[in-house]
Amino acid sequence: MAKHHYLLLLPQLFLFLHHISAANNPIGVNYGTVADNLPPPSQVATFLKQKTTIDKIKLFDSNADILRAFANSAISVTVSIANGDIPALVQLPAAQAWVANNISPFYPQTKINRILVGNEVIFWGDNTQIDNLVPAMKTIHQALKIANLDKDIQVSTPHAMTIINGTYAPSTGRFVGKNKEILEPMLEFHNQTNSPFMICPYPFFNLAPDNINYALYKPNAGVFDPFTKKNYTNMFDAEMDAVYSAMKALGYGDVEIVVAETGWPSMGDPNQLGVSYDNAVWYNKQVIKHVSSGVGTLLMPKRTFETYIFGLFNENLKPTVSERNFGLFKPDFSPVYDVGLLRNQQGGGPVNKPAPTPTPVEGGGSEEDKKWCVPKQDASDTTLQSNIDYVCGTAGLDCKNIQSGGACFEPNSVRSHASYAMNAYYQAHGRHELDCYFSDSGVVVSSDPSYQECKYEA
Ligand SMILES: *[C@@H]1O[C@H](CO)[C@@H](O)[C@H](O)[C@H]1NC(C)=O
Ligand SMILES: *[C@@H]1O[C@H](CO)[C@@H](O)[C@H](O)[C@H]1NC(C)=O
Ligand SMILES: *[C@@H]1O[C@H](CO)[C@@H](O)[C@H](O)[C@H]1NC(C)=O
Repeated sequence: MAKHHYLLLLPQLFLFLHHISAANNPIGVNYGTVADNLPPPSQVATFLKQKTTIDKIKLFDSNADILRAFANSAISVTVSIANGDIPALVQLPAAQAWVANNISPFYPQTKINRILVGNEVIFWGDNTQIDNLVPAMKTIHQALKIANLDKDIQVSTPHAMTIINGTYAPSTGRFVGKNKEILEPMLEFHNQTNSPFMICPYPFFNLAPDNINYALYKPNAGVFDPFTKKNYTNMFDAEMDAVYSAMKALGYGDVEIVVAETGWPSMGDPNQLGVSYDNAVWYNKQVIKHVSSGVGTLLMPKRTFETYIFGLFNENLKPTVSERNFGLFKPDFSPVYDVGLLRNQQGGGPVNKPAPTPTPVEGGGSEEDKKWCVPKQDASDTTLQSNIDYVCGTAGLDCKNIQSGGACFEPNSVRSHASYAMNAYYQAHGRHELDCYFSDSGVVVSSDPSYQECKYEA
């Protein structure tokens, strides 16, 4: 198992967490349900609303229970039509019936904002589905129009990266072969209906032994595009720009791009290339930070991309180990890792403001200037144990005092030991509020937690 140092958010990530306020948060999640152990949709809706900053979800179906569960929430919901249903939906009455059955009963109570006609149809679909894709998108749009919903609900479809050729020189990305015949009219449809082109850039699926750092936003030699003289230092941007170049080559550079899926598994088969817990945490944090930053890509500067992380939960019925482990959360809602989408219980603020001062759990302070870091009252033993492991392991602090025979060994409880360790870390790292964050399990207090022979540093 991975070490638990991920439970500590780095200061810049903590600040970032404040940065993605609900108002301009471009990050959503894919709520996949290929599992037999997921919580009921009503609990999922409550969880997302109360505990996370996630304000948009994407479904791979139009599950009525889920749509009902998200009624009267501020969370936008994207629904999907199964690939197999595409050919029939080319007929307008069928499309109208689909809208009447899957949208009208739930909208506007549930903020359905997009219907996706199939999923990666050009990659997975048979020829009938592929040939009928754009016609079905048009009839669904037509059906929405008749129902007077076309202004509120967009129609799109997500694409696998296989629709374009290589990304080694992003500016040369093109829709290859038959794809062009389908995608050109599709882009025209997006242009006319003001709906986004949706793609699934997954650096993870493009990994080679020599490009892991490039895929992971880590220091690397870069990939130089000789045609634009631009140097790519991350694969995600190269993939985005390759798609953009293909769109632009057909005259549709203005069509919005939405990232329908991206992510990284936290577990895989033994020795599977690039799979690790730390890589999953790292990739997801970086991609979230990157798309939210407003920097854009080399060919699309200053653009922000609505991005759906895959996925919300680990899905236990997926075929491979890595596919089962793309989730941000376990079915019991505990985070697999925290990528900064958890709501800060103490309230957030914009990035430039200092971190909020936590409310002390103990009474008012006496000695000015002295502060200690202790566990929050509601912190779980699991989290606190992770904090101990981190401080005394990865971070390498001296924990002799909480080992057997040490002055702070008694009471021999996780909470008591964590309290000592967390404070030791806080003091050693300069006593910034952030040094006591510990994934929201620590709080700074001004009364000395020392007792008997157990003296806390201050
Ligand atoms: C993609 O294909 C086009 C021709 O359709 C070619 O000009 C271009 O170099 C190719 N790009 C890559 C990266 O292979
Ligand atoms: C691209 O950027 C990387 C990382 O900054 C650098 O090491 C590399 O020399 C650059 N390559 C070119 C061709 O500019
Ligand atoms: C649609 O195409 C026209 C003509 O190229 C362009 O001016 C406009 O910006 C496009 N709109 C969108 C939403 O892509």
